Parts: sequence; C-alpha cells; structure tokens
Amino acid sequence: MAVILSGIKPTGIPTLGNYLGALKNFVKLQNERTEDKFLFFIADLHAITVPQNPAELRANIKNLAALYLACGLNKDNLVLFIQSEVAEHAEMGYIMQSMAYMGEMERMTQFKEKSRKQETGVTTALFTYPALMAADILLYNTDLVPVGEDQLQHLELTRDLAIRFNNRYSDTFKVPEGLVTKVGARIMDLQNPLKKMSKSEDPGDKGCIFLLDPIDLIKKKIKSAVTDSDSIVKYDKANKPGISNLMTIYSCITGEDYKTIEAKYVGKGYGEFKSDLADIVASEIAKIQDNYKKLINSSELDEILDKGRDEATYLARKQLSKAYRKVGLGRKK
Ligand code: TYM
Repeated sequence: MAVILSGIKPTGIPTLGNYLGALKNFVKLQNERTEDKFLFFIADLHAITVPQNPAELRANIKNLAALYLACGLNKDNLVLFIQSEVAEHAEMGYIMQSMAYMGEMERMTQFKEKSRKQETGVTTALFTYPALMAADILLYNTDLVPVGEDQLQHLELTRDLAIRFNNRYSDTFKVPEGLVTKVGARIMDLQNPLKKMSKSEDPGDKGCIFLLDPIDLIKKKIKSAVTDSDSIVKYDKANKPGISNLMTIYSCITGEDYKTIEAKYVGKGYGEFKSDLADIVASEIAKIQDNYKKLINSSELDEILDKGRDEATYLARKQLSKAYRKVGLGRKK
C-alpha cells in the first residue's frame, strides 16, 4: 500500500489550473489505485505566509474543503484535513527548518517570485515555507506527491531534507516521489499565456478561471482568451502559446490528444474551437458547482474534516515522536 498525499493553499478560490494540475488528477489516482491510502489537506498555515483577511481566509478554508469533495474524491478512502488542526505540522516544520540551509531556501523560485510581489514586507515564514511543506509530506511516510510542475522544486528539497536527516540520525523518513500529469501540469493565464494561471490574481481577472465563477463568466473568459492571429488550431507551445494552452485545457478534460484535436478543427478556426471549449469547461465546472452547493453547508463536511483531523493527528504524532527521539529531544530514548 502506497501513501499518496497533497495539499492546496486556501489563498483564494481554486482555479482551473489547480483543478487540472492537481484536483482532477487526485480523483483519477484515487479511482485507479484502490489499494492505496490518500491524504489531502488544506494548507492554511502556508496561506498565512502572506497577509490574509481573517474572515476571507476562514471562508476560503471551508470552500476548499468542499471543493476537494465536489471534484469527485471518494470520502471512504480519504483522509481530508485542515493543516492547522494537526499541530504536528508546525512542530515537524521546525525540525525541518533545523535541517535546511539558508542557501537552499534562497534558491527557491517561488520564494523569489513571491517576495518580489510582496508590498507589505517579506515574512520569515514565506522564506521557510518549503521546510513546512517538507514536514507536511514526511509526517505521513508519503510515497507519492501529486502536484503541478511549480511544486517540483519544493519536492526536490523535501527529498534532500529526508535524505539528510536519515544520514545524520539513521533511517527515519521515506523519501517521497513527485508525480506530475503529462498534460496539464502547468495551465497558463488566459490573457497572458506566458504566465502561470494563479489564484492569487485579482478575482476580477479575465485570465484566470475560478472554480466558483458564474458559468456564463467562465464561458466568456474562454472566448476572450488571447490567441495569435493565424487562426490555425495547432499545438506549438513556443510559437503559439495561447492556443496551445487552450488545447491543453481541452485535452485534459476530454482525454483527446493534441493530434486528434488538431484533426477535428482543420479549416475551422479559433472561433469554433473556443466556443466548443467554453462549453466543455463550463459543463465540467457546472458539475463541480452542483456538488459544492450540496456540501458547503452540510454537517457531512464537518464530519469528514473531524474524522480526517483525528486520523491525521494519530499518524503524524507517531512520526513526530520518532523524529524527536532520533534528534535527542524528549526524556525517553
Ligand atoms: P498551491 O495552492 O499553489 O497549488 C495547489 C496545486 O495546484 C497546482 N497548480 C497548478 N497546476 C497546473 N497549472 C497551474 N497553473 C497551477 N497552479 C497551481 C500546484 O502545483 C499544486 O499541486 N505549496 C503548495 C501547497 C502544499 C503542498 C504541501 C503540496 C503545501 N504542503 C505538501 C503538496 C504536498 C502550494 O502552494 O500549492
């Protein structure tokens, strides 16, 4: 039995990028690997590394919990929990900070990008963020971490920290593997296809589709996506990044490969392609929104989160105690 774990930050409403790069893949893995154990969580401690409005954060945490389930995860084989409700994450995060070097953290692309954007000062937690992410993963003897491409550097660091700890103190942590989808690991902004689609964008942004956007708005955003002027539906990421990104979205949802899509739209132009894609995306997200509406105010959601918190705490406590002992903390050997 393998342990499969991943997390999403509640820093806004999840985007189509989060869905295609992560959530949809989680559901697929869960359907394919019925023998494995699945842990998914709401990375709220990660969210507060940049300033958050408390009321919005609380709402985003709950929305994200409901959206995990609304995307089709099977609750019977799932530990779904809120990171801050399992105190061991922060404790193991500290152990990982004690293993990580400044130079390693300074090299993290996401830190560099995010600290450049920060207007109110860069927090120390934003800097040490990857150590907490390593803790999230290593607390559960995780084998596989399904993520989008942007998280692979953090995962590489997690592996380095696990190996470093094991070498220094004897074998303690399983060294995890990252898992990215072949198609969809990096969905780009619809208005600027050279930039990643990101939930930290302004909610009114036309380049980003949020999973709780009104369906009509979703269609509009797809139809007004930036494309080049030659109007030939062809996958060519370097020269035609706009249409290539839209084809990636099309392929992720329909399962059709680029050649099949190209053949379907020979001589048809972008208008027809975008209009079909708008319907495809809208109907996929409409299903999620229907499920979401049933869940968001249900007692079932709280029950699932309570059960997830208890199970995660049990597993995390065991692993944290082991790490403490190895380091020499605590009175018992
Ligand atoms: P976050 O919240 O930024 O993103 C959640 C997941 O969505 C993927 N993703 C994308 N995939 C494709 N195209 C995009 N445009 C796109 N944008 C985001 C991300 O790669 C990710 O898989 N640090 C993590 C959260 C985290 C975590 C963890 C993940 C905390 N601890 C432990 C795995 C394991 C983050 O900020 O993800």
